[in-house]
Amino acid sequence: MIKAENSAAAIARLARELRFRLEVNRLFGWQVPLRGIRLAAAASRPAAPAGKRIARRPAPAPPPPALPAPLPEGERARRLALLAALDREVRACRSCPLCQGRTQTVFGAGDPCARLMFIGEGPGFDEDRLGEPFVGKAGQLLDRMIQAMGLSRREVYIANVVKCRPPDNRVPFPVEMIACMPYLRRQIEIIRPLVLCALGSTAAKALLQTTESISRLRGRFFDYQGIPLLPTFHPSYLLRNEPDKRLAWEDLQKLMRLLGLPLAPGRR
Ligand code: URA
Repeated sequence: MIKAENSAAAIARLARELRFRLEVNRLFGWQVPLRGIRLAAAASRPAAPAGKRIARRPAPAPPPPALPAPLPEGERARRLALLAALDREVRACRSCPLCQGRTQTVFGAGDPCARLMFIGEGPGFDEDRLGEPFVGKAGQLLDRMIQAMGLSRREVYIANVVKCRPPDNRVPFPVEMIACMPYLRRQIEIIRPLVLCALGSTAAKALLQTTESISRLRGRFFDYQGIPLLPTFHPSYLLRNEPDKRLAWEDLQKLMRLLGLPLAPGRR
């Protein structure tokens, strides 16, 4: 009897898992592997090396907000003007050696009154050429992730830790991030989103000032200057590690809950 119950529970769990995977597939293009399904991908992931420290403690998931307060008149124009002035400063910036290799700076894009702000690492080849964040392959995946949440790119704000392309798309050096972080801090202060989403290890570590790995940080809410911040995997990482899209989708659903967005927009 106990055995029968166990196998019924296992089948129900498998069905739930399969439904979830199909949903991830439908929403942002992950081809569900039919063989070798891992039931407990998260549980089997190796723990991060000991001795690493989280500078900021994870905060409990914040409750969904009441109806968004209407913006005071002229607020959008005020923020646009502040962002434009900051953008001019960024264009003139020569604070670190990255300025020497840039075609142009990549400031950020989106709604200055966005409730959700994504933060990536830094411009790549396509972004450097076009002056817009996340326009290459990783950007196309980010677009699908945003759409899967029931939003569009124009409704969120997207920025990076560094505003100039590091050579060969390497991770920015600490000195480069330290030079550039004041610009990102000011962008966040101007936009003051309801929630921040750090895309990948570089953004999460820079904002939270921690050395903890992204696989330990992702999916948990932290506090960034009074704003809830949720780290998740970077879209470039997800392009190389398809199975982890399911974990990223779980993270995005946490953001959706916080923003009061319907959880299955694709089914409406
Ligand atoms: N990766 C990033 O982190 N930012 C971009 O703008 C593009 C790719």
